Amino acid sequence: MEIIIAEKAGYCFGIENAMKMVTDTLESCQGHIYTLGPISHNAQVTELLKDQGVEILEDQDVAVIESGCIILRSHGVGKKIIEDIKNKAIPIVNATCPFVRAVQKKVETYFEAGYQIVIIGNKNHPEVIGANGWCNDSALIINDINELENIGIYGRICIVAQTTIIESKFNEICDAIKSQVNEVVIFNTICSATAERQAAAAKTAKEVEYMIVIGGYHSSNTQKLADICKSYCENTCHIETIRDLDLTEVMKYRKIGITAGASTPDWIVKEVLEGMEEQNKIAEENVVEEITTEK
Ligand code: F3S
Repeated sequence: MEIIIAEKAGYCFGIENAMKMVTDTLESCQGHIYTLGPISHNAQVTELLKDQGVEILEDQDVAVIESGCIILRSHGVGKKIIEDIKNKAIPIVNATCPFVRAVQKKVETYFEAGYQIVIIGNKNHPEVIGANGWCNDSALIINDINELENIGIYGRICIVAQTTIIESKFNEICDAIKSQVNEVVIFNTICSATAERQAAAAKTAKEVEYMIVIGGYHSSNTQKLADICKSYCENTCHIETIRDLDLTEVMKYRKIGITAGASTPDWIVKEVLEGMEEQNKIAEENVVEEITTEK
């Protein structure tokens, strides 16, 4: 059996960085530890952190917390939430991904300079909600070219992107705004991690007979990886952990590919690899036994 792991798979820089901050905080913080929203969209990681005493807060819960330590999620939060926490003198660990922080800074700077902020992305995504919180929640959030009605009424616009959106969509919407507004400043704030993982998954799926995509069933980047892999390898399965893998089915194939979503930790991928190697060993021993018995 040959196993090929996609060149770019698993934790992106931002999630890895945030997880390290959580580990460091577990060692240094004496009081209760909270994260604002899940630190990564992975049920096993959330469960593990819960066992270590890390509790997930919703943004509105900050109002009732009086002590402990609050870790800001990698997707970031609005300015007011940070001010509210600071006013309570609760220590903050800012695990906002530096690429997301860069978006927030652009939004704040250009909002203060009098520009109408446009965020191209999904209005329900925590990163977009957080970025909007750096311009007093006044951004126009656009996810589709058909949502540009009345855009011409603004004199000056600053456009930023949700870090995970598709570049062609961003460019299409930017072009449409440029054609209707006099002064437009554009920052392409798309992060390359998502596109790199998708390209690596596609490359691997093309080469193998069976493809395993590891990551949360509710993680949108993992679901997208699974869709891409299915389009190149019909024998693609999406699993959260080794327990979801049909090992008997996997053993029917000789060349197997693996990829993992940006929120999937290495230890889950390692468990899958070990489970497959173990099963392969058993299968090989059975073959040797059968040959010996036949003799
Ligand atoms: Fe940051 Fe890009 Fe990951 S924005 S959280 S490194 S996908």
